Amino acid sequence: MHRLQTVALAALLSNSASAVPYAEYILAPSQRDLSPVNVYRTNGTVINAAGVTTSGSGSTIFNSVSAVTYDYTKNIGGLVSFIVSSSSDSEQYLGISFTESSMWISPDGSDATQNIAIDETLWFRITGPGNYSVEPLHDRGAFRYLNVYHNTTGNVTLSHLQTYFTAMPHFPDDGLREYTGYFHSNDEKLNRVWYAGAYTDQLCTIPSTSGNSLVDLDATDPNMPTVWWSNSTLTNGSSAFTDGPKRDKLIWPGDFAISVPGVFLSTDDAITVKLSLQQLFASQNTTTGALPWFAQPVYAFPENGFLNLGKVVFSFNYHLFTLLGLHNYWIYTGDDEYLQNNWNRFKLGLNYSLSFVDETGLANVTSSFDWLREGMGGHNIEANSILKHTLDVAVTLAYAVNDTSHIESWTNASTAIASAANILLWNDTASLYKDNDTTTSLHPQDGNVWSIISGIASANQSTAISAALAARWGPYGAPAPEAGTTVSPFITGFELQAHYLAGQPQRAIDLMRFMWADFMLDDPRMTNSTYIEGYDVSGALHYPAYADDARISHSHGWSSGPVLALSTFAAGLHVLNKTSWVAHPQPGNLTEVEAGFEVGYGSFAAEYLVTAEGVKYTFSTPAGTKGSLILDAPGCKGKISIVGSNTAGDGKVQRTEHGGGRDKGFHWNKQVENQEASSSPWKCGVWGPSPASQRSASDSTITIDGLAGGNYTVEITCA
Ligand SMILES: *[C@@H]1O[C@H](CO)[C@@H](O)[C@H](O)[C@H]1NC(C)=O
Ligand SMILES: *[C@@H]1O[C@H](CO)[C@@H](O)[C@H](O)[C@H]1NC(C)=O
Ligand SMILES: *[C@@H]1O[C@H](CO)[C@@H](O)[C@H](O)[C@H]1NC(C)=O
Ligand SMILES: *[C@@H]1O[C@H](CO)[C@@H](O)[C@H](O)[C@H]1NC(C)=O
Ligand SMILES: *[C@@H]1O[C@H](CO)[C@@H](O)[C@H](O)[C@H]1NC(C)=O
Ligand SMILES: *[C@@H]1O[C@H](CO)[C@@H](O)[C@H](O)[C@H]1NC(C)=O
Ligand SMILES: *[C@@H]1O[C@H](CO)[C@@H](O)[C@H](O)[C@H]1NC(C)=O
Ligand SMILES: *[C@@H]1O[C@H](CO)[C@@H](O)[C@H](O)[C@H]1NC(C)=O
Ligand SMILES: *[C@@H]1O[C@H](CO)[C@@H](O)[C@H](O)[C@H]1NC(C)=O
Ligand SMILES: *[C@@H]1O[C@H](CO)[C@@H](O)[C@H](O)[C@H]1NC(C)=O
Ligand SMILES: *[C@@H]1O[C@H](CO)[C@@H](O)[C@H](O)[C@H]1NC(C)=O
Ligand SMILES: *[C@@H]1O[C@H](CO)[C@@H](O)[C@H](O)[C@H]1NC(C)=O
Repeated sequence: MHRLQTVALAALLSNSASAVPYAEYILAPSQRDLSPVNVYRTNGTVINAAGVTTSGSGSTIFNSVSAVTYDYTKNIGGLVSFIVSSSSDSEQYLGISFTESSMWISPDGSDATQNIAIDETLWFRITGPGNYSVEPLHDRGAFRYLNVYHNTTGNVTLSHLQTYFTAMPHFPDDGLREYTGYFHSNDEKLNRVWYAGAYTDQLCTIPSTSGNSLVDLDATDPNMPTVWWSNSTLTNGSSAFTDGPKRDKLIWPGDFAISVPGVFLSTDDAITVKLSLQQLFASQNTTTGALPWFAQPVYAFPENGFLNLGKVVFSFNYHLFTLLGLHNYWIYTGDDEYLQNNWNRFKLGLNYSLSFVDETGLANVTSSFDWLREGMGGHNIEANSILKHTLDVAVTLAYAVNDTSHIESWTNASTAIASAANILLWNDTASLYKDNDTTTSLHPQDGNVWSIISGIASANQSTAISAALAARWGPYGAPAPEAGTTVSPFITGFELQAHYLAGQPQRAIDLMRFMWADFMLDDPRMTNSTYIEGYDVSGALHYPAYADDARISHSHGWSSGPVLALSTFAAGLHVLNKTSWVAHPQPGNLTEVEAGFEVGYGSFAAEYLVTAEGVKYTFSTPAGTKGSLILDAPGCKGKISIVGSNTAGDGKVQRTEHGGGRDKGFHWNKQVENQEASSSPWKCGVWGPSPASQRSASDSTITIDGLAGGNYTVEITCA
């Protein structure tokens, strides 16, 4: 029997912690009181520095000017406290500082949350034995290294040092590892990549009351550590889904376009997504329909320039990301009421976007604000691709709320964007779209990956774009030339989807392996647990958009794109809405891929296995749903057989046959011949992209529609 049936499905039906499949990969802690794991470095005279770590025992004595840098071995976040058992006198001081990357370890401050310098050290005057804790406004949302600095003569003895983990505040203290989703493959790098993405999203889920206050944003002295507080309130609930737990600790809609699906595919944390989305909609200008660049906090004091800027800035794309966020929330919750409640806001917002469309059929973007790329304006390909995609999404949502009045105009606008973009922006020599109609040299990453996601690019163009993008990869990742020398894991997360959609799963897998695993996890400057927001093509941890390298966030939800890529594309579990799905495995050269997740309306699971005879793909979808199975044509002569049964809500097997008949189960058989077997690089039974020449040909995939939710086994055996 397959692990899918014996372990994974059993786990999905049970609430017991031990049953979470592949829990050994989960990085979230099993409880909230966390002691450091290791001593990274000691300065000066410290006796038994490791005493307060998980592996140590006994007290730690700081003698004269000395410091210990403790290593949690992964990114964590929360409130630090310690117990002093003795001190030489009542005029001792201990200073606490934090950093995500080892690059910023310093007794003089933490890595940065403002635009300049580093964040100030938190000083404690040690008057004698007792418990000392940071104030709640100093909840440090993400750090791996914790530095304790003793700056005086005399001594201080610590008997305990801990961080109270504050992420996922609304989950039970012992429930942080209760994932509803899992992923596993024969590639250990990808397994780590998936779980680090899920954990990144967890760390980004912070207590609603520990939002950024950006209090020292106007600081100008690069040598003067800045004041930092985390005490604004972000949502009308207990949690908030932010861009990053160190900073900005604000609700940014970019994340709703890519990491929100990852949240559902790993922890199904619907309430946080809903509260955060609500705050984005609450900041909508009800006259124009404009949605904010980022959500205004519910309460922040004092006000600051950045929050005020957020009230007036309009970003064409971030506006659309909030609309796409509503769609993503609806897909995985089936919450029709919430969709209905926000439908007028959605329409108002979409109409505002359409007001930028000119006689060419394309939107002319007049605001430069985007994901901190350059040259965002005019008939921009990224903006128009995202607008087309949002229009197509709007049509599906309109059917769901039975408001069909705009469907024709939205459909026409979508078609017009696609044809205008292909006339004005496609460069056949480069096999890429150019950034806008006034540039000849810049072919952006963002617009090209979105042209595939939106369907502006045809199948043949998608194949060509996928190859052209891959040809630009550097040793540390996929470049985003529209942002100087940036590598953007945010945009590259969309690039992963683009390669899958272009029928090139191996490119997505290769990119996840060398960019996310080899660099973003394994480089020693990283946290080996959460994903950095951006860096330089040279591998320098310099994000070209920022002057201050210490400011870079090493835990950014927008970099967690592989969670969606692996569960949805590699394992093939595409959820369209609460009643509809597509199963389409794209494993590339992986020989085992397994994923599953549970959302409010049911559970999904799939397993792909290369066997001695060929390939076996088993999948399971909720009773009462409907879907399609898509198989990439196998690179061999052989036989495909599909056996399935759909289960009724009562758990009884309800035997049906595809296309009519009863009491026979579902059976489907097909003989396949690969016309280009000799030129195909794919071994018998290993699925993969068909040769490029066949991509748009009808025989490059096999589609079986109208499958009822249930359990299916697909076997491909080679002749
Ligand atoms: C700490 O300081 C006190 C007071 O000066 C002294 O008695 C004690 O020996 C010191 N402890 C250590 C371990 O140095
Ligand atoms: C440890 O000492 C080195 C060398 O003096 C110094 O550069 C570094 O900042 C110190 N680190 C800490 C955490 O005190
Ligand atoms: C130690 O740090 C505290 C807090 O910044 C400061 O008040 C004190 O003067 C420092 N002591 C020495 C000896 O530097
Ligand atoms: C909404 O946008 C209009 C036009 O830009 C502006 O005049 C108005 O002040 C905005 N309203 C709010 C509440 O910001
Ligand atoms: C945040 O903390 C600072 C410093 O204690 C305080 O002045 C400010 O009022 C607080 N703001 C909020 C929103 O609680
Ligand atoms: C068009 O694209 C180029 C290259 O990105 C950029 O320099 C230019 O500013 C863009 N035009 C507008 C109007 O934004
Ligand atoms: C876009 O609109 C701006 C402002 O109305 C205008 O100056 C610019 O020429 C337009 N760009 C294009 C490509 O039409
Ligand atoms: C769900 O998606 C399917 C396939 O696109 C569609 O036929 C169906 O109408 C959708 N259901 C709802 C409620 O939107
Ligand atoms: C839309 O109409 C269908 C069929 O009349 C109905 O089942 C469904 O509940 C309606 N949905 C909403 C959101 O009103
Ligand atoms: C197409 O791209 C090439 C670079 O690959 C560039 O040299 C050429 O000028 C571009 N053509 C147009 C019409 O933009
Ligand atoms: C990184 O984390 C993984 C667990 O996710 C661990 O097995 C590995 O040893 C760590 N690498 C380093 C260099 O610590
Ligand atoms: C999968 O293909 C990549 C190259 O695209 C190669 O590096 C890797 O070794 C292959 N893995 C297996 C298991 O064949």
